[in-house]
Amino acid sequence: MATASSSRLDKPIPANSSSSAPAYELPWVEKYRPLVLDDIVGNSETVERLKIIAKDGNMPHLIISGMPGIGKTTSILCLARAMLGDAYKEAVLELNASDERGIDVVRNRIKGFAQKKVTLPAGRQKIIILDEADSMTPGAQQALRRTMEIYSSTTRFAFACNQSNKIIEPLQSRCAILRYARLTDQQVLKRLLEICVAEKVEYNDEGLAALIFTSEGDMRQAINNLQSTVAGFGFVNGDNVFKVVDTPHPVVVQTMIKSCYEGDIEQALEKLSELWGKGYSAVDVISTMFRVTKTIDTMSEHAKLEFIREIGFTHMRILEGVSTLLQLRGCIAKLCKINMPPKLYTLPK
Ligand SMILES: Nc1ncnc2c1ncn2[C@@H]1O[C@H](COP(=O)(O)OP(=O)(O)OP(=O)(O)O)[C@@H](O)[C@H]1O
Ligand SMILES: [Mg+2]
Repeated sequence: MATASSSRLDKPIPANSSSSAPAYELPWVEKYRPLVLDDIVGNSETVERLKIIAKDGNMPHLIISGMPGIGKTTSILCLARAMLGDAYKEAVLELNASDERGIDVVRNRIKGFAQKKVTLPAGRQKIIILDEADSMTPGAQQALRRTMEIYSSTTRFAFACNQSNKIIEPLQSRCAILRYARLTDQQVLKRLLEICVAEKVEYNDEGLAALIFTSEGDMRQAINNLQSTVAGFGFVNGDNVFKVVDTPHPVVVQTMIKSCYEGDIEQALEKLSELWGKGYSAVDVISTMFRVTKTIDTMSEHAKLEFIREIGFTHMRILEGVSTLLQLRGCIAKLCKINMPPKLYTLPK
C-alpha cells in the first residue's frame, strides 16, 4: 500500500507502474519521486507540519510555493496519499496547467467534484489539487472563492505554485501558505548518492560537485543531469557533467577571475576568448562568473564584493541586449582594475 514507509529506492521497478516498459526507460525523476512524506528531502519544518496534518486529518486549504523542482507537487501528492490511502482515486481531483482551468471548469468540474458524495473516514475530506496554480487566470481564481467556503466541510484545496503573488489575495487569505526553500547542496547530494547506489552509477566526487553546482538547488535538474550524464558517458565526472549541461566549465572561469584578481589581463582575456570560442553566450559566461566568484576562497571579502558589483552591472547590460564579446572584455578590464594599486603620476619637470 502506498502509505507503507517504503520508497521506490527499495524497489527499482515502481510498484504502481502499470506500463510494461522496462524500468530503465523511466526518467529517474519519476522513478525516484518520493511516495511518502518521509522520503522528501529538505524543508524539514514544513514537511513535519504536513506529516502532522496527514496524521490528524482536517487539512486546511494549502498553498505551497517555491522555485521549480524542489518537491512541491510531490509533497501534495504524498500528503493526499497519506491522508486518503485507498480512497485516493475517488477522493482526489488533480488539475494542473496542462488541463483547462478556466472559469467554466471551476463552475462545472471543480464544483461538481466538491458536491460529489464520497464515504471517507472521520476527519478526512476530499482534496482538490490545483498544481501550477499561478497559471490560473484571476477570473478562474475569483470563481473559486465561494466554492472553497461552501464545500469546506467536505472538500479541501491544495495549491502549488512558483510565485505566490500570482494567487489572488482572497484565496491567499483562505489558505495556510507554506514556502519551500531551495534545497541545500547537502540535501541534493544525499538524494543523488541514494540514486547512484540504487542505479549502480560510477561517479567521482568532482562529478557530484558539478551536478550540485549546475542544479542550483533544483533537485529535478540535478537528477535529470545525472541521468543524462550516465546515458551519454557512463561515468559521472566533472568534465562529462559540464559537457552534458553545456555551461562554461567553472574551473576555466575560476582561472579567469583569479587572473583578474592578480591583475593579469592577458591571461584573463585569453581564458575569455577560449570560452567565447566554444560558443557560450554572454549570459552563460557572466552568470557562471557570478557564481564562481562567490566561491573563491583566496579572494578577500572586499574584492569579492567589488567583483560581484561589477559583474552585476555587466549582467544587467547583457540582459538589456548588449551581449557582445566587447561587453565581457570591458567587464574583465574593470575587474583587473579593481585590485590594481592606483597609478602615481609624476609631474613632468
Ligand atoms: N525535496 C525532494 N526530495 C526528493 N526528491 C525531490 C525533491 N524535490 C524534487 N524531487 C525530485 O524532482 C522531481 C520533481 O519534483 P516536483 O514535481 O515535486 O517539483 P515541483 O516543486 O512541483 O516543481 P515545479 O514548480 O516545476 O512544478 C520529483 O519527481 C523528484 O524525483
Ligand atoms: Mg510541480
